[in-house]
Amino acid sequence: MPENRCLQGIWSSPWIFIFAAGGSAVGLGNIWKFPYVLGENGGGAFLMVYCLCLLAVGLPVLIAEVSLGRTVRSNPIDTVNDLSERNLLHSRWVLVPWLAGITGFLILTFYSVISGWSMAYLERAVAGKFASLDQGSAQGMFDALLNSPGEMLFWHSLFMFLVILTVGQSVTRGLSTLVRILLPALIIILLFLASYSMLVGNAGEAIDFLFRWSWEDLTFDVVLSAVGHALFSLSVGMGAMFAYGAYMSKRMSIARACAIVVGVDLLVALLAGLVIFPLVFAFQIDVEAGPSLTFVSLPIILGALPAGPFVGAIFFLLLVIAALTSAISMLELFVAWMHEKYYISRLQAATMLGGAVWFIGIAVLMSFADWDSKLMFGLNGFELLDKFTTLIMLPVVAILLSVLVAWALPRDMLQKELITQQVAHFQWWHNVLKYISIPVMVLITVAGWIGV
Ligand code: TRP
Repeated sequence: MPENRCLQGIWSSPWIFIFAAGGSAVGLGNIWKFPYVLGENGGGAFLMVYCLCLLAVGLPVLIAEVSLGRTVRSNPIDTVNDLSERNLLHSRWVLVPWLAGITGFLILTFYSVISGWSMAYLERAVAGKFASLDQGSAQGMFDALLNSPGEMLFWHSLFMFLVILTVGQSVTRGLSTLVRILLPALIIILLFLASYSMLVGNAGEAIDFLFRWSWEDLTFDVVLSAVGHALFSLSVGMGAMFAYGAYMSKRMSIARACAIVVGVDLLVALLAGLVIFPLVFAFQIDVEAGPSLTFVSLPIILGALPAGPFVGAIFFLLLVIAALTSAISMLELFVAWMHEKYYISRLQAATMLGGAVWFIGIAVLMSFADWDSKLMFGLNGFELLDKFTTLIMLPVVAILLSVLVAWALPRDMLQKELITQQVAHFQWWHNVLKYISIPVMVLITVAGWIGV
């Protein structure tokens, strides 16, 4: 049966969707953000709520996004336009893919700066600068980077250049080969680092911190951060998976593919936690250190390893590639749309959008160099963008997208898309989305905002 094609192409094998979606999901969110958000939110309590959020919110919403993309096989904006022309949706819903695209765009402005740090650390690893670092000198190395806007600008620019080049090509080519090597390699190296870290660090306290929790630790802030991070880590709530769904072969079961992506994403985050926390406790680094946590603790262990420079170089190289495969998914929605609508090349579209991201990124980078200058609500540029996108935009877009799929879209249309498996599974998912994921997201987001 010939497949109905998307303008951007279709992934050559059903598995490639898993690699591309996995490549988008696994990124700085798992290795840089997860440990510090967990640290700031009290450890075990956060982890438990986070796992629940992945299952009750992340997975159902991910399935919703991907199915929506695959039904029409166009970019998200035109998908909604197309559905409204066929009188299947109200035209106002087009606001949702727009908001989604804007969220991705905004996230990339700070994501690129942090990816730049990873590149800077790759260079330091290659140059052997991690040798015999202790907590003080590791912190010093990180502070020195933050205090050189020129260096951060260089790496941020280089990273954006790579993003523009990659997303300017078709995502249905090239990318998959990269991710196919990246994911297994990343898991292997994390396994190795985690074992070493548990050996030399304080494994007992780390495991206690990660897996033990009590009811008092459960506040609305913790729950809101867990929902926000679950969406961030799975790349849902900004149309990236919506866009990727359009290139997915019909031969693949969406539910199975998404479940695998969630599993891999959680595995990588947990491994990162098992690398970082034994060191954090052994070297008495503050668990609430925030964005610097990974970048201060990791070099200590890399410096102590016999093959440190080599392992460090490979690790940061993998991290940069993981960040790249995530970053390109943030621009995909608008790039595909501009390419299809205005007949400009993908590279031109990527250059325009990427240029704008690069420019805003400069403001973010300055906020690290001048961490104490607050812009609004006592937050600086990075904190504002991070909190605004993760805690407000992502949940709002995820809620709207889910309502669109669960309530607004004709049910039989979805059913046709999803029933490569049994009807019972479809029912299950549809009900979870309608009666659990959406109410949970609404309740938590609103409660979190008003600060219950
Ligand atoms: N999930 C990625 C990470 O964990 C980040 C990311 C890529 C993302 N695409 C996204 C986050 C879309 C939110 C929305 O690093």
